[in-house]
Amino acid sequence: MANSNVAVVGAQWGDEGKGKVVDIYGKHADVIIRFQGGNNAGHTLVVDGKKVVLHLVPAASLHENKSCLIANGTVVDIEIFLSEIETLKQKGYLKTSKVFLSDRAHVIMPYHKILDQMREKKRGATNIGTTGRGIGPAYSDKTSRLGIRVGDLLSHKHLEARIEESLLEKNVLFKELYGADTFSASKLADQYAELGEKIKSYIIDANELVSDALEAKKKILFEGAQGALLDIDQGTYPFVTSSNTTSGGACTGAGIPPNIVDEVIAITKAYTTRVGSGPFPTELNDSVGERLQQVGNEFGATTGRKRRCGWLDLVALRHSKNMNGFTGLALMKLDVLSGLDEIKVCTAYEYKGKKFQTIPAEISTLEQLTPVYKTLKSWSESVTDLTNEKAVPSAMRDYISFIEDSLGVKTALLSVGPDRAQTVEIRNPFEKN
Ligand code: GDP
Ligand code: IMO
Ligand code: MG
Repeated sequence: MANSNVAVVGAQWGDEGKGKVVDIYGKHADVIIRFQGGNNAGHTLVVDGKKVVLHLVPAASLHENKSCLIANGTVVDIEIFLSEIETLKQKGYLKTSKVFLSDRAHVIMPYHKILDQMREKKRGATNIGTTGRGIGPAYSDKTSRLGIRVGDLLSHKHLEARIEESLLEKNVLFKELYGADTFSASKLADQYAELGEKIKSYIIDANELVSDALEAKKKILFEGAQGALLDIDQGTYPFVTSSNTTSGGACTGAGIPPNIVDEVIAITKAYTTRVGSGPFPTELNDSVGERLQQVGNEFGATTGRKRRCGWLDLVALRHSKNMNGFTGLALMKLDVLSGLDEIKVCTAYEYKGKKFQTIPAEISTLEQLTPVYKTLKSWSESVTDLTNEKAVPSAMRDYISFIEDSLGVKTALLSVGPDRAQTVEIRNPFEKN
């Protein structure tokens, strides 16, 4: 049997349970690559009842003998990186597994965080609801060719010149528009050259690691953050993050050709959540929404904000499938739906008497759409101890089949609780048939 390379991506607006699946799939993989985003992500893993929250380091780092790469497509807050490594070591992890940081990844500088927060404040009611971690400004600098890359931290003189260039316009903004303190390039260069020394042993030319892994036919797991509807190009713009969260992002973000990704597993919550602002057609501002929020413990792992909750949206998922090329679904948090009176699924949108099967680009249209629902039978059984696909209650089986048939994709994994053990792996995507 040949090996496959697998990409795991969020199919909705993030927080679908990618961390849990990457932890589970991590045991099958040799190399795990986080390819985009930064510490705006928050991935909660629960192993034997013990919780670990990761924002940056690949969620497979709890296993032994893995190579975990933070690749060129990411934006890295160096202090968060160091503290995450420290926490993992304190908890007894990273004994044999290694974390690597691409010299081409971009650095989130202190001025990116301030700019993110000030911009949001200035926007007031129309803010994006960002995580305030400097993600947008760091990616803007990357595309404006004003970014600082991880490799730049290793040469003080070069670093200071880069920071000076990057601050030229920003200091005017800070002073004139925001009435805030300006930044000193030389002070920042001292601080970041010191941080560079601290992370020196993790920095590598990642292209070598990736091409060696491909050559040796190692099993590679590409770990996505956020979700398809937050994709900078295909998401609900401008209420999105600043990177390509879809499977194509694995290619540019890890520096690999598209034909080596054999499987794209869509991490899909059995309902929908969203944190931050922006359109959410199936949002429930009622007692059912409240129940999903409470039973699902829907609080953001990064900012602690309450997640908005609603029914599963098949229009959004179809859009997501078209962009990502799903080969399998990981259906998460099915346990949260147990005991509801009925379960609804959005199958289309309606606007001015017209039906929509896809997500329109125009945000004002999206905000006015009415979801068309199909009501399905609920199940009363608790499923948190489910270990076998055969033991799935029949109404839950019907729910799963309805989703599979609507999307034309089969489930590869079912999740019925936060713990690693509360999982039914239907097939192993790393094994080619
Ligand atoms: P990610 O950002 O996609 O990795 O997802 P998060 O970790 O931010 O959010 C998912 C939350 O749901 C975490 O608190 C997980 O521990 C939890 N979780 C994951 N799978 C399940 C599940 O099947 N059932 C329940 N009840 N919780 C789950
Ligand atoms: P994980 O990987 C859910 C949302 C923010 C905001 C928008 C832009 O845990 O699924 P940003 O700080 O990226 O500029 O914010 O994107 N967002 C997420 N929502 N899960 C995430 O990551 C998110 N990362 C960013 O709430 O609406
Ligand atoms: Mg999350």
